[in-house]
Amino acid sequence: MLSGAASLSMLDRQQYDFADLLNGDRTNAATLRAWLLDARQRTRWLTDDLQGAHELGPRLAIVNPPLWELGHIAWFQEYWCLRFRNGAEPLPPLVANADALYNSAIAAHDARWDLPLLPWRAMRDYQDRVLERVLHRLERDALDAQLAYFCLLSVFHEDMHGEAFGYTRQTLGYAECKIESDRPISTSGIDCGADRTFAGGSCALGARRGSGFVFDNERWSRQVTLAPFRLAAAPVSYAQFAAFVDDGGYQRDALWDAPGLAWRRATNAKGPLYWRKQDGAWQVRDHQRWCALAERADRPVLFVNWYEAQAFCAWARRRLPTEAEWTLAAESIYGHQDTSLDQARFEAKKEAIASMRYGEIWEWTADWFQPYEGFSAGPYREYSAPWFGDHIVLRGGCFATRSRLLRPGYRNFYTPDRRDVYAGFRTAALGGDSSTAALDGDSSTAALGGDSSTAALGGGCANSITSP
Ligand SMILES: [Fe+2]
Repeated sequence: MLSGAASLSMLDRQQYDFADLLNGDRTNAATLRAWLLDARQRTRWLTDDLQGAHELGPRLAIVNPPLWELGHIAWFQEYWCLRFRNGAEPLPPLVANADALYNSAIAAHDARWDLPLLPWRAMRDYQDRVLERVLHRLERDALDAQLAYFCLLSVFHEDMHGEAFGYTRQTLGYAECKIESDRPISTSGIDCGADRTFAGGSCALGARRGSGFVFDNERWSRQVTLAPFRLAAAPVSYAQFAAFVDDGGYQRDALWDAPGLAWRRATNAKGPLYWRKQDGAWQVRDHQRWCALAERADRPVLFVNWYEAQAFCAWARRRLPTEAEWTLAAESIYGHQDTSLDQARFEAKKEAIASMRYGEIWEWTADWFQPYEGFSAGPYREYSAPWFGDHIVLRGGCFATRSRLLRPGYRNFYTPDRRDVYAGFRTAALGGDSSTAALDGDSSTAALGGDSSTAALGGGCANSITSP
């Protein structure tokens, strides 16, 4: 997750143990080089056409001016990979005043449109010069733990901004810049309406020591005990969400808890953000095109926030899964380290994947973002700590998330009102981990009838799913 207000502690003089931070990661210099180049290539792909009319864009709380954001990517890479000195003053930047311009701790979000930013070509030159020097360091120096850690951090940071450029283009109604997933996500034969039963028991929540690069908020693993639970094999689809909307979901106050109701009233939301009804049929805005919802009926619904997900659950007499449940389910299928499934692994695991398909959308969980026991902030101190307590954990990863970042344990986090990000949700049957049981629906939800644990979510998705 990237927050526009995230910041860096320029005065941090703590000394870090980079072997510990790297946590046994074995990514070699050649791979780091390839990832650095790949991340930059995608940044360019997503932003090249923004030069000129769109390089600043509208002043909104949920977006950054691209001219600033692109300079910030270069600054971040330079600060950590080239300038940072463990426990000592950082080296000076390549560009005068770079910290004031591009460190998000110093450059307040609202002010970014007014700063004397590098012009587009100079900004691109700054990006090039930094990347060139980082690649040179990788070639010239032995790959020590510090350089490896910060190269990974830089790659993942740029990947996250890439995802943000993607959804920002949707937010602002710019032309689509097709983001192809870098892994196979076609999952024919999965019944979206079906639950899978998990026996519960003891589950390790959090990063294992020696398991490779993890973010500070994943440290460290602890055992939690879960009751048996049932989890939908797939996220809620457009068709399923449309049934909720058509059943008056946005008019029935009893389906919304107090914060959700307050959000709905404040925004006057009558349905999902990008939906409209034309001649009695739902349409969904995809960048600059309005598409029939029916064309994507079986795909996971995107661009709904946590409040909307909770209201749907109340209507469907379901609940959101906890982080622990989500983790246990995913790790039982994928293992705990990565899901970067190449075609061979995907084919080998195809049947198991049908038990829990993920990786197409970020999935809201029931849990607020909180530190695990043993948390201590990493060098990028503001990656996690400022957001504990008022953000919600999302799991999974979306079609635009690079596979190198996907792990069942990876914790994304957004505030519950965000519906501009690539997020949807899956549901769990009531019961199971009752500590996070869903909202009480009003009695009118009984109209759904049947065995609420499974029958409420009708519809199937027999066809393959492709990237939205
Ligand atoms: Fe950033």
